[in-house]
Amino acid sequence: MPLSVIILAAGQGTRMKSRLPKVLHKLAGKPMVEHVYDRSRELKADSIHIVYGHGGDLLKQACAHFDAEWHEQEQQLGTAHAVQQASPAIRDDNIALILYGDVPLIETATLQQLVQNVSGDDVALLTVELDDPTGYGRIVRDDDGNVIAIVEHKDASEEQRAICEINTGILAVRAGYLNRCLARIGNDNAQGEYYLTDLIALAVQDGNRVVATHPQTTAEVEGVNDRIQLARLERVKQRQQAEAIMAEGVSLADPSRIDIRGELNVGNDAFIDVDCVFEGEVNIGPGAHIGAGCVISNSTIACDSHIKPHSVIENAIIDKNVEVGPFARIRPGTHLCENSKVGNFVETKNTVLGKGSKASHLSYLGDSEIGAEVNIGAGTITCNYDGANKHKTVIKDGAFIGSDTQLVAPVTVGKNTTIGAGSTITRDTEDEVLVLSRSKQTSIRGWKRPVKKKRE
Ligand code: UD1
Ligand code: CA
Repeated sequence: MPLSVIILAAGQGTRMKSRLPKVLHKLAGKPMVEHVYDRSRELKADSIHIVYGHGGDLLKQACAHFDAEWHEQEQQLGTAHAVQQASPAIRDDNIALILYGDVPLIETATLQQLVQNVSGDDVALLTVELDDPTGYGRIVRDDDGNVIAIVEHKDASEEQRAICEINTGILAVRAGYLNRCLARIGNDNAQGEYYLTDLIALAVQDGNRVVATHPQTTAEVEGVNDRIQLARLERVKQRQQAEAIMAEGVSLADPSRIDIRGELNVGNDAFIDVDCVFEGEVNIGPGAHIGAGCVISNSTIACDSHIKPHSVIENAIIDKNVEVGPFARIRPGTHLCENSKVGNFVETKNTVLGKGSKASHLSYLGDSEIGAEVNIGAGTITCNYDGANKHKTVIKDGAFIGSDTQLVAPVTVGKNTTIGAGSTITRDTEDEVLVLSRSKQTSIRGWKRPVKKKRE
């Protein structure tokens, strides 16, 4: 049977105490609801339906790239009512799989297994055993172990409250049958809500089977109601990601001290020291070494490069055998070619640093094209901004830029040219020359330092 997914996301999320709808709070750099959406895509769902209530505009804006149908639930009258906002839009003979925008760690494999149990009008239900089932719907089974009902905590007897098997809320059933059942569900219960869970007793009454399966871990089905739970799941997710890259042959100084907020691809024998953060898509080649405390976003770092501690790298390409940092800031549009080196307190932006070239200390290199085997002295600044526009600096192969030089762009420094320390370069230079722009050193004999005037 083809599959459609309904993601419930209409709850207010009061306990988050947030201006943001709950399901937009991020886990591993991505809104919770997007994790659930991504799993739905992996299941190759025919259609994905999102039921929303609060903060609909913010939600649709943040999820504008989703290929999904949106259904508003104006009043939150219960989970059955929520499902009913979307289920009539699903073809009768599709399986409807109910997921939750605030249950972000559900695994695709668990859902595939669940969905396989739907045949005819049988209901597939995901349940789990908890040491403390307080608050959850309890799974009631008959003497033969068949599931016969779900009883909500608030409606449960003492005896039922002792049951540790609980309803995760995730279930799958043929949409046509779901719709027929939803029409029969009332709200005569402790909370005055339309309970989706009443579906189970109806199915049993109709002579259909309820097949319960379990997830691999309870974290998969944990919901987020407050920021404490969100932080807990964040650690679970980060641990999973850390273990996945270690399994690929990457060493982590401490798997509990890495944060991957996006997609990190790392080659084997790479080493990542403590407290690094990776954002967006980051690719790191084999044998690379990432020092402690680096923040790297949307960048590629080729094999055997060494990023020393506390460097910040964003939208950059770093070729192999490059050294960066400590304390370097590599900004968007930077390309550091093979064997080049960028040292401490160097900032680069929209700049190519050629093969074997070095900028070892205290420089700003912006909008520049630097050739091979160039030496950039300490304190060199490309003055790329005239207050209105940005201009380019070109430094040709083999040039040597003396310390504390200002290169006032647009300007070109010729091949193998040497710029004397402390120069301000405002015009293009020839190749193979020494250029000095500072005033000549002179000595004035008998010169006296000023002295403080005496008070009367
Ligand atoms: C529900 C289940 C319970 C299960 C538990 C697991 C019902 C009646 N109970 O209880 O058996 O153990 O989840 O966490 O289904 N929602 C809407 N619209 C609504 C109501 C809810 O979109 O009108 C969404 C919420 O945003 C939330 C989810 O559905 O994501 C669950 O709703 P909630 O009210 O938290 O149900 P529980 O009482 O926790
Ligand atoms: Ca809940």
